[in-house]
Amino acid sequence: MKTIIAGNFKANLTRKQVMAYTQGLEKFLESQCADSIQNHKLQVNIFPSHTALLGNTFAYFHIGTQNGYFATSGGFTGEIGLLQLQEFGINRILIGHSERRNLLGEDSECIAKKFRFYAEAGFEIYYCIGEDLHTRQKGEGALKDFLHTQLANIDVSYSKLIVAYEPIWAIGTGVSASMEQIEQTHSILAQMTQDPLLYGGSVNADNAGEILKIPNVNGVLVGSASLEVDSFAKIIQVAL
Ligand code: PGA
Repeated sequence: MKTIIAGNFKANLTRKQVMAYTQGLEKFLESQCADSIQNHKLQVNIFPSHTALLGNTFAYFHIGTQNGYFATSGGFTGEIGLLQLQEFGINRILIGHSERRNLLGEDSECIAKKFRFYAEAGFEIYYCIGEDLHTRQKGEGALKDFLHTQLANIDVSYSKLIVAYEPIWAIGTGVSASMEQIEQTHSILAQMTQDPLLYGGSVNADNAGEILKIPNVNGVLVGSASLEVDSFAKIIQVAL
């Protein structure tokens, strides 16, 4: 199975910055990773903010969207629809990120609607799941139930589905889950779904190598450490 490295920029970087970033990333990938990408061993994606979406025309990486409304277009103030995404050739989307669930109030019904809509549109869907600290502390049974509930919300047999396990307590904290915790959780997830499994939560160039060696980890979803092209490139390099 190929290794997937994805960068979630969140509400960071301006359009101008993303334009410079993409030039740097394309150059790096062309010189260091062309074979792995062409042989489908490595896939690189970035998810910039909506004002920084660029045409999805790069040779070595894909641009995806951090969000999309479950409509082609219409009266949905502040949202972005399929038509706007298609104009940029975007066909990858993050759904279910804990910041959208917890800060922006997306409930499981809204997430399920987004999933169905973008699956119908043929998008590659990066479906994010992960427990809070309270659930983690309740033990393995509670963790299993929680992950099972989040997966039960969508069709895990969708062929273009990638599941990103991102424990909420490890996101943006600088403290990743331990290797044992990642191994344990990914082995639980591998029993629930055949889809590629990414780990996310304080991944950086120092821990990515070890994380990517864990069984049932097929890639990483990176926030903070993806914001500078050099740091993101170092993570990609350890995946080679
Ligand atoms: P982080 O974010 O790498 O900054 O922890 C990961 C994410 O939220 O996808």
